[in-house]
Amino acid sequence: MGQTVLVVDDSGLNLRVAMNILKEHFDVCCANSGAAAFDVMKKQIPDLILLDYHMPVMDGFQFIEKLREIEEYKDIPIIMLTADNDRDTEVRGFQAGVMDFIAKPFVNEIMIQRVGRILELSRLQKNLEYEVKVQTQKAEERRNQVEKLSEEVMKTLANTIDAKDPYTNGHSLRVAKYSKEIAKRAGKSKQEQKEIYQMALLHDIGKIGVPDEIINKDTRLTDEEYAAIRKHPAIGSDILKTIEEIPDIMIGARWHHERYDGHGYPDGLAGTEIPEIARIIGVADAYDAMTSKRSYRNILSQEVVRGEIERGKCTQFDPVFADIMIQMIDEDIKYTMREKFKGEV
Ligand SMILES: [Fe+2]
Repeated sequence: MGQTVLVVDDSGLNLRVAMNILKEHFDVCCANSGAAAFDVMKKQIPDLILLDYHMPVMDGFQFIEKLREIEEYKDIPIIMLTADNDRDTEVRGFQAGVMDFIAKPFVNEIMIQRVGRILELSRLQKNLEYEVKVQTQKAEERRNQVEKLSEEVMKTLANTIDAKDPYTNGHSLRVAKYSKEIAKRAGKSKQEQKEIYQMALLHDIGKIGVPDEIINKDTRLTDEEYAAIRKHPAIGSDILKTIEEIPDIMIGARWHHERYDGHGYPDGLAGTEIPEIARIIGVADAYDAMTSKRSYRNILSQEVVRGEIERGKCTQFDPVFADIMIQMIDEDIKYTMREKFKGEV
């Protein structure tokens, strides 16, 4: 008991017979037309419908069509009541998604067995659907957790890189933010923006391999020291190459010091040979260098920075991304897009 079967048939006799057969095993309700069945379902949604196919006004197939359009009803399993040997109706019935057929005149045991089996099948199906939903949700949660964790790890790494040099405090995070904004304005998808953000966060990771005394040197660098600094893109890409799950993560680290005119390093790539992501990070990186303090100078004025980006078009920078950067500068009326002074938020 506990499961409800709705019998829909225009013949009162058939309804009574079906009711008598089923009532000891199931809760049964009856309707003598399609319309009456919908009225019954307003009060209680049945677990299964036994449906006569030959009815006036709304026949069995029209009833099924209407039922499928309603979200709460569309998954109710249906057994169709047919005249014996009615093969065409059975074929149409299967096509309409009917689960099984019971031929008239009814045979008690067959009716009980078929109804019981379809109910059991439908219950198992519902359980399975529920289980799949729960497991999918769990997998999604785990994925989000892992993603959040890896972003935290990347941020920590970026902070560690920046901590090597008191004058690059927060540099990686700012470059990541600017790069993401450029990517967004260039029409990149949310996923691409996220990837660019991560690559930009780690663009200077190779500085880990450059001695602190060179990075922190206040005075002019010797040629040798300069050469050591110029190694950081290659060191960075070697470090990141080991992250096999994100094979492209090294792009920003390796090529952010390439120049559009081909005079950059480490590979001397030019124009569109430089991966787009690295061209974006290149603009953001140069912008942040100019808008943060150095041991030998203060933050440059917005006007000077704008002029430098403009002048660097097609020589140092991809002109498209340089223009986007200029647009961002022009919108930043209060010049907040820069390294913050102590105590500033
Ligand atoms: Fe760099």
